Amino acid sequence: MQQSDNQPAAIDVVLWQYPQNEGEGKRWRQSLSSHELERAAAYRFERDRTSFMAGRYLLRRLLSAHTGTPPREIVLVADEQGKPSLEGRDTPQFSLANADGMVAVVVASGCERIGIDCERADAEIEEAALDAYCSSDERRWLGELPAQERPRAAVQLWALKESHLKALGVGLREDPRSVSFSWENGLPIAAHDGERDRRWFHRLIESGSQHVVALAISSRSGLPGIHTRMFQDDSMPSE
Ligand SMILES: CC(C)(COP(=O)(O)OP(=O)(O)OC[C@H]1O[C@@H](n2cnc3c(N)ncnc32)[C@H](O)[C@@H]1OP(=O)(O)O)[C@@H](O)C(=O)NCCC(=O)NCCS
Repeated sequence: MQQSDNQPAAIDVVLWQYPQNEGEGKRWRQSLSSHELERAAAYRFERDRTSFMAGRYLLRRLLSAHTGTPPREIVLVADEQGKPSLEGRDTPQFSLANADGMVAVVVASGCERIGIDCERADAEIEEAALDAYCSSDERRWLGELPAQERPRAAVQLWALKESHLKALGVGLREDPRSVSFSWENGLPIAAHDGERDRRWFHRLIESGSQHVVALAISSRSGLPGIHTRMFQDDSMPSE
């Protein structure tokens, strides 16, 4: 999964345990669009506002590095399902996820679809919720795991499904049971309505923290190189 830094990666996964203080937020604002600032202001809870701003700040920094456009000048549009893309261009593709203290962004070229999800590994998932997103085979697989491994495996399954539905652009409007996972040589393998589609690749990414990160990629030409790194914010503080 990990490549050396001087090897070009078609898929750039960047994770950030962002600082949670007001001062940083002020600096991030300078990279955001007026629409994003309005959205940030509408959040009721400071924690959600910070998380949203950190996500958009990181996304803009990475898209800027890929396109050469300054972060604030990047124009993002969302389709009717809420999936964001770059106005007027198909590449790079990207996806973004936030989860309590961590932002995960993937920026990619050379694949058809990409989606990322990030969840707290200790997120509690109730039995009823498991029934709502797991197939009967997945339920059986979870049930056969040692009890101490089950909660994390349930979160991983959820993150894999959400990354897939984000790659499709439908999000949770689609029944998460429409894609089901099994394991082959320790890697997740997806089936849609019971059929395996060999264009799809799924990976769980090592986050180095209490977060589960899942990636879904659709590519006709095999799995492109994936480079995962932690974001180091080297931008200068504002005056
Ligand atoms: C996509 C979705 C699964 C995200 O779940 P979540 O747990 O709330 O949030 P995550 O942190 O995982 O991801 C958030 C990011 O997903 C992206 N996103 C939103 N809708 C998306 C979609 N349909 N497809 C792919 N990505 C989407 C955005 O980049 C968002 O980041 P932002 O908050 O900075 O805009 C969920 O919002 C959903 O199901 N949306 C579609 C249905 C819907 O309710 N749409 C209403 C808006 S039109």
